[in-house]
Amino acid sequence: MEIAFQDWINLILRWAHLITGIAWIGSSFYFVWLDLSLRKRPGMEDGVYGDAWLVHGGGFYHVNKWMVAPTTMPPDLHWFKYEAYFTWLTGFALLVTMYYWSAESYLIDPSVLPLGKWDAIIISLLSLIAGWVIYDVMCKSAIGKNTGTLAVGVFVLALAASWLFTHVFSGRGAFIHVGAMLGTIMAANVFVIIIPNQKKVVASLLAGEKPDPKLGLQAKQRSTHNNYLTLPVLLMMISNHYPMLFSHDLSWVIVGLILIIGGLVRHFFNTRNAGGQGRAIAWQLPAAGVGMAILAMFASYDPNAASHAGADVIASGKAIEIIQTRCASCHSSHPTDEGFDEAPSGVMFDDLDQIHANAQRILAQAVIGRAMPLGNMTEMTDAERGDLGRWIRAGMPE
Ligand code: HEC
Repeated sequence: MEIAFQDWINLILRWAHLITGIAWIGSSFYFVWLDLSLRKRPGMEDGVYGDAWLVHGGGFYHVNKWMVAPTTMPPDLHWFKYEAYFTWLTGFALLVTMYYWSAESYLIDPSVLPLGKWDAIIISLLSLIAGWVIYDVMCKSAIGKNTGTLAVGVFVLALAASWLFTHVFSGRGAFIHVGAMLGTIMAANVFVIIIPNQKKVVASLLAGEKPDPKLGLQAKQRSTHNNYLTLPVLLMMISNHYPMLFSHDLSWVIVGLILIIGGLVRHFFNTRNAGGQGRAIAWQLPAAGVGMAILAMFASYDPNAASHAGADVIASGKAIEIIQTRCASCHSSHPTDEGFDEAPSGVMFDDLDQIHANAQRILAQAVIGRAMPLGNMTEMTDAERGDLGRWIRAGMPE
């Protein structure tokens, strides 16, 4: 019996990451909704900012929000923080098991930058720390005084990081790092700002002092950022399934579009939850739709298409030869690549039938996108990608 440890650890961590992530995002969406649904009503208790009535699972709930804190501290206060912490921890562990452990396959692309394994890992770690430090300084600086300027600042930071990542790591490595950096900022917002500020408020209340309202405002600012980052980060985290996103020569522009589209969708829900109607909520989703169309067109545009157009279509013998040299070391019933005992994802190219059956996937992974060969370990050339693409698009002639 042989246990593929890396795969099992990966599976367990991914499952845990999904569960904790759903719990975090779920509670975060719930609280944003709750916050925006609060209404002032006559006869509310002193210090209550607003309340909301909810019905769920066979019962009614009546929730009140105290803006700073209630006058006396309830004995059993529920905190919401472990969802965030464990989402980050499982996500980081997943980054390690996949992108650090197999850095040559997933993180490094020698045609982008021929990094050593440890160089790549150190760059990755430093970038996660730097992302948080720059963001935090920005929020606390003059830029942070104005919500609009700060939003632009965070957007520019994400774009700059994407540009850097795409010039250092493989396409998918770059995208997962944009997600990891933004996810780190979100988790650190909870760990370093939101929860400590709330603890300070509780402490001063217990000491019989009046808590500083600034603490609550700062926490609110960070949690608003988390709210708008959630949807883009989710797409970055699953982007490795979509080579058309991360293989583009200007994939950092794609990150920018994803941030805008995700932010627009979130803005729709936020405005609607706050009671917005009619024109106030009419434009966000159509704008996101237009953004998605622009994204699809931008991602599909191949600047080299014209130079391929007139070239001859190769014969199937030549196509098989390309696939044999560049793909079959991994994608065969008996892979010769040391890293694989079985064909990855069950995809095999041992005969023409299998190639025919997988033609669209080959096109997606190795022609339109450059996700394959993995880490371009078999050094496939652009000319070969072009040849293979024309052959498949011409209906794979003999
Ligand atoms: C060094 C090993 C290696 C080489 C060489 C390689 N692949 Fe892959 N391939 C993988 C791995 C690993 C996966 C699983 C991808 C993942 O985990 O994200 C994969 C997945 C795939 C998939 C399935 C993706 C999907 O989910 O639809 C296709 C299609 C594919 N490869 C095509 C190719 C083609 C075409 C070539 C040659 C041009 C190639 N591969 C070369 C390792 C390799």
